[in-house]
Amino acid sequence: MPWLNRADPVIMGHILAEHRELFTRLQALRATLAAAAPITAERVASLRVGLLELREHLRAHFEQEEHGGFMEESIARIPRLAVAAAGIVRQHPTLLGELDALVERLAQGDVSAATWARAGGDFEEFAAALAEHERQETAVVQEGFNEDLGLS
Ligand SMILES: [Fe+2]
Ligand SMILES: [Fe+2]
Repeated sequence: MPWLNRADPVIMGHILAEHRELFTRLQALRATLAAAAPITAERVASLRVGLLELREHLRAHFEQEEHGGFMEESIARIPRLAVAAAGIVRQHPTLLGELDALVERLAQGDVSAATWARAGGDFEEFAAALAEHERQETAVVQEGFNEDLGLS
Protein backbone atom coordinates (compact mmCIF):
# COMPACT_ATOMS: atom_id res chain seq x y z
CA MET A 1 0.00 0.00 0.00
CA PRO A 2 1.52 3.33 -1.00
CA TRP A 3 0.84 5.13 2.28
CA LEU A 4 3.02 2.65 4.18
CA ASN A 5 6.10 4.46 2.93
CA ARG A 6 4.92 7.95 3.69
CA ALA A 7 6.48 9.97 6.46
CA ASP A 8 4.47 9.77 9.68
CA PRO A 9 3.66 13.50 9.91
CA VAL A 10 2.04 13.21 6.49
CA ILE A 11 -0.19 10.36 7.64
CA MET A 12 -1.17 12.18 10.82
CA GLY A 13 -1.74 15.34 8.80
CA HIS A 14 -4.11 13.47 6.49
CA ILE A 15 -6.28 12.02 9.25
CA LEU A 16 -6.37 15.34 11.10
CA ALA A 17 -7.36 17.15 7.89
CA GLU A 18 -10.21 14.66 7.39
CA HIS A 19 -11.40 15.26 10.95
CA ARG A 20 -11.19 19.03 10.49
CA GLU A 21 -13.30 18.78 7.35
CA LEU A 22 -15.90 16.78 9.28
CA PHE A 23 -15.86 19.41 12.01
CA THR A 24 -16.47 22.18 9.43
CA ARG A 25 -19.48 20.27 8.08
CA LEU A 26 -20.84 19.83 11.61
CA GLN A 27 -20.42 23.55 12.27
CA ALA A 28 -22.36 24.45 9.10
CA LEU A 29 -25.24 22.18 10.11
CA ARG A 30 -25.16 23.53 13.65
CA ALA A 31 -25.50 27.08 12.25
CA THR A 32 -28.45 25.97 10.09
CA LEU A 33 -30.19 24.49 13.12
CA ALA A 34 -29.52 27.55 15.27
CA ALA A 35 -30.62 30.20 12.75
CA ALA A 36 -33.59 32.25 13.96
CA ALA A 37 -35.46 32.03 10.64
CA PRO A 38 -39.01 30.61 10.63
CA ILE A 39 -39.24 26.83 10.30
CA THR A 40 -40.56 26.10 6.83
CA ALA A 41 -40.85 22.96 4.72
CA GLU A 42 -37.98 24.32 2.57
CA ARG A 43 -35.79 24.79 5.62
CA VAL A 44 -36.52 21.27 6.82
CA ALA A 45 -35.82 19.91 3.33
CA SER A 46 -32.54 21.82 3.13
CA LEU A 47 -31.48 20.52 6.55
CA ARG A 48 -32.26 16.98 5.41
CA VAL A 49 -30.08 17.46 2.33
CA GLY A 50 -27.21 18.73 4.50
CA LEU A 51 -27.57 15.79 6.90
CA LEU A 52 -27.66 13.29 4.03
CA GLU A 53 -24.51 14.84 2.56
CA LEU A 54 -22.83 14.54 5.94
CA ARG A 55 -24.03 10.93 6.12
CA GLU A 56 -22.48 10.10 2.75
CA HIS A 57 -19.25 11.85 3.65
CA LEU A 58 -19.04 9.96 6.95
CA ARG A 59 -19.82 6.63 5.32
CA ALA A 60 -16.92 7.14 2.88
CA HIS A 61 -14.65 8.31 5.72
CA PHE A 62 -15.46 5.22 7.80
CA GLU A 63 -14.95 2.94 4.83
CA GLN A 64 -11.53 4.42 4.21
CA GLU A 65 -10.62 3.87 7.87
CA GLU A 66 -11.89 0.30 7.83
CA HIS A 67 -10.10 -0.84 4.68
CA GLY A 68 -6.35 -0.52 4.72
CA GLY A 69 -6.42 2.75 6.53
CA PHE A 70 -4.61 4.33 9.40
CA MET A 71 -6.06 2.14 12.13
CA GLU A 72 -4.86 -0.99 10.39
CA GLU A 73 -1.39 0.44 10.06
CA SER A 74 -1.37 1.41 13.75
CA ILE A 75 -2.27 -2.18 14.72
CA ALA A 76 0.42 -3.57 12.42
CA ARG A 77 2.93 -1.40 14.25
CA ILE A 78 1.61 -1.84 17.81
CA PRO A 79 -0.53 -5.01 18.06
CA ARG A 80 -1.93 -4.24 21.52
CA LEU A 81 -3.82 -1.31 19.98
CA ALA A 82 -6.07 -3.86 18.22
CA VAL A 83 -8.60 -4.00 21.08
CA ALA A 84 -9.07 -0.23 21.20
CA ALA A 85 -9.15 -0.02 17.39
CA ALA A 86 -11.81 -2.75 17.13
CA GLY A 87 -13.97 -0.91 19.65
CA ILE A 88 -13.62 2.31 17.69
CA VAL A 89 -14.54 0.66 14.37
CA ARG A 90 -17.62 -0.88 16.00
CA GLN A 91 -18.86 2.66 16.66
CA HIS A 92 -19.12 3.38 12.91
CA PRO A 93 -22.50 1.69 12.24
CA THR A 94 -23.88 3.12 15.49
CA LEU A 95 -22.92 6.66 14.47
CA LEU A 96 -24.43 6.25 10.99
CA GLY A 97 -27.57 4.80 12.59
CA GLU A 98 -27.92 7.83 14.86
CA LEU A 99 -27.71 10.12 11.84
CA ASP A 100 -30.25 7.98 9.96
CA ALA A 101 -32.66 8.20 12.87
CA LEU A 102 -32.30 11.98 12.95
CA VAL A 103 -33.02 12.27 9.20
CA GLU A 104 -35.91 9.83 9.50
CA ARG A 105 -37.60 12.01 12.10
CA LEU A 106 -37.23 15.04 9.81
CA ALA A 107 -38.74 13.20 6.86
CA GLN A 108 -42.28 13.53 8.16
CA GLY A 109 -42.69 17.05 6.74
CA ASP A 110 -43.28 18.30 10.25
CA VAL A 111 -42.40 21.99 10.62
CA SER A 112 -43.23 22.31 14.31
CA ALA A 113 -40.85 24.10 16.67
CA ALA A 114 -40.77 21.00 18.88
CA THR A 115 -39.54 18.78 16.03
CA TRP A 116 -36.93 21.34 15.04
CA ALA A 117 -35.74 21.64 18.64
CA ARG A 118 -35.55 17.87 18.96
CA ALA A 119 -33.50 17.69 15.76
CA GLY A 120 -31.14 20.26 17.30
CA GLY A 121 -30.83 18.20 20.47
CA ASP A 122 -30.32 14.96 18.53
CA PHE A 123 -27.72 16.65 16.38
CA GLU A 124 -25.74 17.88 19.38
CA GLU A 125 -25.83 14.39 20.87
CA PHE A 126 -24.61 12.94 17.58
CA ALA A 127 -21.90 15.61 17.18
CA ALA A 128 -20.59 14.93 20.70
CA ALA A 129 -20.48 11.16 20.03
CA LEU A 130 -18.65 11.74 16.74
CA ALA A 131 -16.17 14.14 18.34
CA GLU A 132 -15.40 11.58 21.07
CA HIS A 133 -15.04 8.87 18.41
CA GLU A 134 -12.57 10.92 16.40
CA ARG A 135 -10.64 11.81 19.56
CA GLN A 136 -10.20 8.11 20.44
CA GLU A 137 -9.25 7.33 16.87
CA THR A 138 -6.63 10.05 16.65
CA ALA A 139 -5.20 8.85 19.98
CA VAL A 140 -4.80 5.28 18.67
CA VAL A 141 -3.17 6.40 15.43
CA GLN A 142 -0.93 8.84 17.27
CA GLU A 143 0.16 6.15 19.71
CA GLY A 144 0.80 3.64 16.92
CA PHE A 145 2.97 5.99 14.95
CA ASN A 146 4.73 7.64 17.88
CA GLU A 147 5.75 4.36 19.50
CA ASP A 148 7.01 3.08 16.20
CA LEU A 149 9.12 6.19 15.81
CA GLY A 150 10.55 5.62 19.29
CA LEU A 151 11.62 2.07 18.44
CA SER A 152 13.10 2.65 15.02
FE1 LIG B 1 -13.78 6.38 12.58
FE1 LIG C 1 -12.22 9.31 11.61
